[in-house]
Formats: sequence, structure tokens, C-alpha cells
Amino acid sequence: MPHLAVENLSSAYAQQQVLRNITLSVERGEVISLIGPSGSGKSTLLRVLMGLLPPTAGRVVLDDAPLDYASKQNVRDARDKMAIVFQQYNLFQNMDVLSNVTVAPIKIKKRPREQVETEAKELLRRVGLADKHHSYPDELSGGQQQRVAIARALALRPELLLLDEITAALDPELVNEVLDTVRTLAGEGITMLLVSHEMAFVREVSTRVVMMDKGQIVETGTPAQIFGNAQEARTRDFVGKILRHH
Ligand SMILES: Nc1ncnc2c1ncn2[C@@H]1O[C@H](COP(=O)(O)OP(=O)(O)OP(=O)(O)O)[C@@H](O)[C@H]1O
Ligand SMILES: [Mg+2]
Repeated sequence: MPHLAVENLSSAYAQQQVLRNITLSVERGEVISLIGPSGSGKSTLLRVLMGLLPPTAGRVVLDDAPLDYASKQNVRDARDKMAIVFQQYNLFQNMDVLSNVTVAPIKIKKRPREQVETEAKELLRRVGLADKHHSYPDELSGGQQQRVAIARALALRPELLLLDEITAALDPELVNEVLDTVRTLAGEGITMLLVSHEMAFVREVSTRVVMMDKGQIVETGTPAQIFGNAQEARTRDFVGKILRHH
């Protein structure tokens, strides 16, 4: 049974259809990268999965249970299993690092503070921030802030992690430290769906790569297939351009 199955999913902003018939099956522990030109619907797909934008057709099945996005309880349950990290990390500026990571599990999930803090410290160690518990976001570099955002998402104990261009706002020197964190998580078998323009990274870390264009999936394949032997001209064209560009 797949961890996540997306079946003929469509979605729209107002009258504009932006996702058309998306079908994708993700096994537990897979790392799926979504690539494709700007505006192709990559972020929108993650937003629909999180229940931030309703689907107009099709369905999403999580752990064998179809998800009803019209049901608040269903969406809450889904968010218990999935966490998302955006490009803009949106840390709470008035809270230190440890509080940023612990606030949702304590206040929203109502878990015991002591246990949450112990876990948060371990997460911060894993993302290389063991010495920053009491720093405030404006005292951290962009890469460090992005890693706090990842730790904050992991503190929710997601089974599925959605990452939307989390290195796009970073200086090149900081990109690697964030990508190292993602690599470690991938090695630990957490299921990931990520959007990235870092093709070298996508190639290294992904079990499969999904090429999107105009709200549709053009092609899905292993990194070797997509980067070396794409079946669709649109994929070859996009991959060729982006590899030349970087
Ligand atoms: N909040 C919104 N309201 C209306 N239309 C939107 C909104 N967000 C995105 N769109 C439109 O939906 C389409 C898909 O956008 P989306 O953000 O999913 O693309 P993307 O593949 O993530 O692009 P990028 O690589 O630039 O981040 C685009 O045509 C975009 O203009
Ligand atoms: Mg996007």
C-alpha cells in the first residue's frame, strides 16, 4: 500500500484551473522531487495536499484512507501526519529557537513540555544547531533559520514531509548545509515530497522525479531516466536548460 496516493487530482484558483488530473503514488520512505518551470503547479500541488487549497476533482489517499478535504477533522488528521516547510521560513521573531520548535507541539498538540523540549533539542542537534537554543531568528543566518524551520516541522513528528524550494532564498554557501539536513532525513526513511531547482541535489537524493508543466505531470522516472534518458521532449528541454543554467 502506498504511503500517499494522488488520483486524478485537479484544482483551481478562482476560475483558473492550475492542476489537471495529477496521479502519483508515493511509497513509504520515498523521496519524490517535483521539477518543472515556474507556474507549472508544483507549490499548488503541495498546498492542496496540506488542505490549504481545495481540490476540484480527484482524490488523495493517505495510508489507505481517502482524505475528505471538506472535513475539518479529516484535514486536522492529515496535518498530524504531514508537515510542510516553505521557502520563507516564517519563524516567530519574538521567540527563541527552542520556543519556535516547541510551541506547536505544546500549544496545539498539547504534548508535555518536558518531553517536547527533549525531542526539540535532539532535533536541533540533528540539524546542527545544538548551540543556538536561545538565539532569536534575527541573530541567525538564513541557512540556520531554514534549519530551524525544518526542525520545527519535524517536531510535529510528520510521517510525510513536504518541502517547497527551501533553499531558494539562500546564498549558495548556505544551500549545502540545508541540503545536508535533507539528505540525512532522507537516509532516515522519512517520506518526502520536495520542490527544488537544485538539480544536482534532486538527482542525488530522489527515488523518483516528477516533471510538471502547465498543471500536469509530463513524466515520472528515476533520476537516471529523467536526467539521462527522458522520454518526453518537454522534459529534455527543461532539464537541458536548467542544467546549462546552473
Ligand atoms: N494565490 C494564488 N492565486 C491565484 N493564482 C495563483 C496563486 N498561486 C499560484 N497561482 C497560479 O497557479 C499557477 C501555478 O502556480 P504555482 O505556484 O503552483 O507554480 P510553481 O510550479 O510552484 O512555480 P514556481 O517554480 O515559480 O514556484 C500559476 O499560474 C500561478 O500564477
Ligand atoms: Mg512554487
